[in-house]
Amino acid sequence: MTRAFGFGRTAVLGAVLAGAVLLAGCERPPMTSTQQGYRGTGMVQIDNPRIKAAQEAARPPIPAVTPPAPTEGPKARDIFQNVKVLGDLSVAEFTRHMASITAWVAPNEGCNYCHNPANLADDSKYQKVVARRMIEMTQHLNASWDKHVAKTGVTCYTCHRGNAIPAQVWHKPATPQRNRPDVMLGNDFGQNRAVPSIGLTSMHYDPFSDFLQGEEGIRVAGPAALPTAGYKKSIQSAEKSYSLMMHMSEALGVNCTFCHNTHSFQVWDSPPQRAVAWYGIRMARDINNAYLTPLTASFPKERLGPAGDVAKVYCATCHQGQNKPLGGNAMASQYIGLVALAQPAAPALPAPVDEPRKSVLYFGVGSSALEGAQAKGLAQLIVTMTGNARTVATISGYHSAAGTLAANQELAKQRAFAVRDALLAAGVAEARVKLEKPQQTEANIAGEDPVARRVEVTLR
Ligand code: HEC
Ligand code: HEC
Ligand code: HEC
Ligand code: HEC
Repeated sequence: MTRAFGFGRTAVLGAVLAGAVLLAGCERPPMTSTQQGYRGTGMVQIDNPRIKAAQEAARPPIPAVTPPAPTEGPKARDIFQNVKVLGDLSVAEFTRHMASITAWVAPNEGCNYCHNPANLADDSKYQKVVARRMIEMTQHLNASWDKHVAKTGVTCYTCHRGNAIPAQVWHKPATPQRNRPDVMLGNDFGQNRAVPSIGLTSMHYDPFSDFLQGEEGIRVAGPAALPTAGYKKSIQSAEKSYSLMMHMSEALGVNCTFCHNTHSFQVWDSPPQRAVAWYGIRMARDINNAYLTPLTASFPKERLGPAGDVAKVYCATCHQGQNKPLGGNAMASQYIGLVALAQPAAPALPAPVDEPRKSVLYFGVGSSALEGAQAKGLAQLIVTMTGNARTVATISGYHSAAGTLAANQELAKQRAFAVRDALLAAGVAEARVKLEKPQQTEANIAGEDPVARRVEVTLR
């Protein structure tokens, strides 16, 4: 009995210990779950609040935005010798941009990381050549990929975070020895290497070459239940799609349900984030193919990967575990050199002429809308028309000489229509409004002349 009891105790102890060992790999509850989609679809984001809090606390503070500098005064291109991208900035703004770039990319090394201190105009350091292209790339991302980066935008800090080499980049892996045709060890077919960027799964460890540099199709589901002629996807390519999906989830710190209604991964009845992610994939290809790969020759050898390729970006480069990089911090908008160089403000339109028998209304470049003060320029003329039923309004449109004649005539016509509609809206009968053919204006010597973009209304 005692013996049996003793045996039982050992067994229980063993079971408890085994359980503890097995559970050690699990995260301790409670977890939080946030509903993402329709009820009953299982579209929830599950987080461990303790791990999340520790991750947030470990993030270094985002460098402060220095106050914008005056935009007046001489331009950088007039004062310095070799500015090709940021030349339109004022000298003060240019200097502020240099200081922030240093804080974002080379805080410890300082200006000399990119510059030859004896001559700041010198381009002999590869870092400066790369940085110039990076400025153009950042401008391009903010200007042309707003479908992904929205108003949040990106700065150098989004990727670099105080490091010359962003912490999360990828290279093509070297072909392992065993995969050579003359070696008898079996080919690993790209599997079973613990790669953190795909969540330590055993799936293909390089989905990036095909999908974020190459333009291979990611979608794997066929159009019919059984294989059809003309549609062929190997198990291996499906695995690559899944390992890219693992990367996307890991990079953003989210579950698959952040982007998918998992009753069917292929259908688009999914959250809006999936469309944002679709653009993100195309944007990463654009960065890698249009900016990074062409810089390969500029980098020293030790910066290239085992296959001789330059470091490239994937989702984690910007996102680093957050669904919006840096928690959606929008500091890019504070740096006009990275968003878009300031456009000169459009000259103000002249005040409308508002007389009892004549109105003159002015329009913006390319616009046929009666905006602001211009909308009030018919007041006196309408008073005359209401008091005198025999008057007829004649509308003539004028256009400037800038641009093509056909487009200008169409615009002048639309402007005349806008004025006619304003008269009809004020209660004037249609029969009392006469439209004349648009005329090219006499005041066209200087091209875009605000006085040329006008409609005149005269009472007869
Ligand atoms: C990450 C690289 C990088 C760092 C760090 C950097 N710069 Fe620059 N700098 C550039 C690039 C690129 C240009 C050229 C910009 C262009 O072509 O529009 C430039 C140009 C300049 C010029 C114009 C030189 C000329 O006559 O053509 C000055 C002045 C300058 N930087 C000052 C600074 C100062 C001061 C610092 C430190 C606070 C600094 N830079 C840090 C990359 C850098
Ligand atoms: C989309 C991500 C991204 C953004 C935004 C970005 N970079 Fe980079 N940058 C990279 C990658 C990737 C590399 C290649 C890493 C390497 O050097 O091997 C790189 C390399 C560099 C290097 C060369 C570093 C070295 O020592 O090899 C410099 C300098 C640099 N970037 C400056 C900038 C500046 C300045 C900005 C902002 C105007 C900027 N970058 C914005 C991703 C980015
Ligand atoms: C950040 C958003 C996002 C996350 C997270 C995400 N996906 Fe996707 N998924 C997409 C997008 C976008 C596509 C379509 C890609 C394309 O067509 O270029 C896609 C496509 C797929 C496809 C192919 C569907 C078809 O039409 O054949 C599968 C399967 C898939 N995802 C599975 C997953 C799994 C499993 C996870 C979690 C491990 C996941 N996804 C996480 C955005 C996401
Ligand atoms: C150049 C930096 C950059 C890269 C690379 C990048 N993203 Fe983003 N992403 C952003 C920024 C910035 C936002 C925030 C936009 C906003 O505020 O709506 C964002 C937002 C998103 C969102 C919307 C999140 C939400 O909460 O609504 C998704 C989804 C997303 N990214 C997926 C991806 C995927 C997938 C990849 C890789 C294929 C990727 N991103 C690569 C910068 C980047």
